[in-house]
Amino acid sequence: MDTDALFGRSLLTTHEWSTADLSTLLAVAAELERLDRVGVRTPFLQHELAYAMFFDNSTRTKSAWAGAAARLGMQPVIVDGSSTQVSHGETAEETGAMLGMNAHALGVRHDLILGEGNAFMRDVLRGISDYLAATDDERVVPVVNLQCDIDHPTQSLADLLWLREHFGGPDAVAGKRIAMSWAYSPSYAKPLSVPQGVVSLLTRFGAHVTLAHPEGYDLLPEPMAWAAEGAAASGGSFRVTHDMDDAFVGADAVYPKSWGPLALMTERVAANMAGDKAAMADIERRALATNAAHRDWICDERRLGLTNDAMYLHCLPADIGAEVTPGVMDRFKVAVAREANKKVYVIMAMLAVAKVPHLGQQLAELADRAGGAR
Ligand code: CP
Repeated sequence: MDTDALFGRSLLTTHEWSTADLSTLLAVAAELERLDRVGVRTPFLQHELAYAMFFDNSTRTKSAWAGAAARLGMQPVIVDGSSTQVSHGETAEETGAMLGMNAHALGVRHDLILGEGNAFMRDVLRGISDYLAATDDERVVPVVNLQCDIDHPTQSLADLLWLREHFGGPDAVAGKRIAMSWAYSPSYAKPLSVPQGVVSLLTRFGAHVTLAHPEGYDLLPEPMAWAAEGAAASGGSFRVTHDMDDAFVGADAVYPKSWGPLALMTERVAANMAGDKAAMADIERRALATNAAHRDWICDERRLGLTNDAMYLHCLPADIGAEVTPGVMDRFKVAVAREANKKVYVIMAMLAVAKVPHLGQQLAELADRAGGAR
């Protein structure tokens, strides 16, 4: 594994990484998982600080960040973004400079408002880079997108790693039929970034991806274009349907999850900018009322019966009883936990390729020293 081209990289969208570079990252993640499972330690980054800021709730990604940092010998620190001076108007560049001077890697989740999260991450990265350059500080401080308004790259890469394992190898996703479907949720208007990340990534690896959603639940144009481009380049395909059954017919894997109606997700940009809490609450109420018109968009045994014995995927947490029936979730509860578990290795791989010089060689030496640990 030659990881040298990945040294110093940040991960803000998978789209910015070549397919070859993503494949290298996934190979590193798979090797780190293998070593971890046979008890080989990988403390490449001892005494370094892995700092993460979350502007939204998280169970899996927070613990995956902490687990990845600990396995690399780093100290993880995770803060609630709203408790920082960002909420008092500190600029993202200033935040980046401050965190970059003190930490050795930065994770950010900022996913709730369209147009904000990915732009924030780019400004943070600029703040870090400008500070380090101005002070002749040669440290590498990568920024890892832990979910924004456009992409959730550590999730989609974890999903791909799991699908590769499930289907039987790095090339096995090519030719498989994947249904990324909207599903009903009464809980909250969820971000668009998971389906956007999934369709724009899996199409690049030769999958035949069908995106299903009711009218009005379109994704953003840019990741839709990435998915079409990815399919054209890989020999996969990408199509959209407004019929959940249609997407499920013959699918090898299904990913039914909710997201918010695009017009209302767009409407809340201005309301959030104005700090208008009443308008935000009204938009949320209307989004849930809109969702409620599509209660029949649920992953149940009848729909799974239309598939090619499909694997059920979900980024979690799922709305059980709305997005998926309790019986289906119970049948796949270990599978979705194994899917979630891949994220710790994706984040480990991301931090390691960005920060450890000649990582491929170091991993090979570790594996050799561990002898028969295969
Ligand atoms: N799938 C996912 O990102 O989970 P969390 O929101 O719990 O991190």
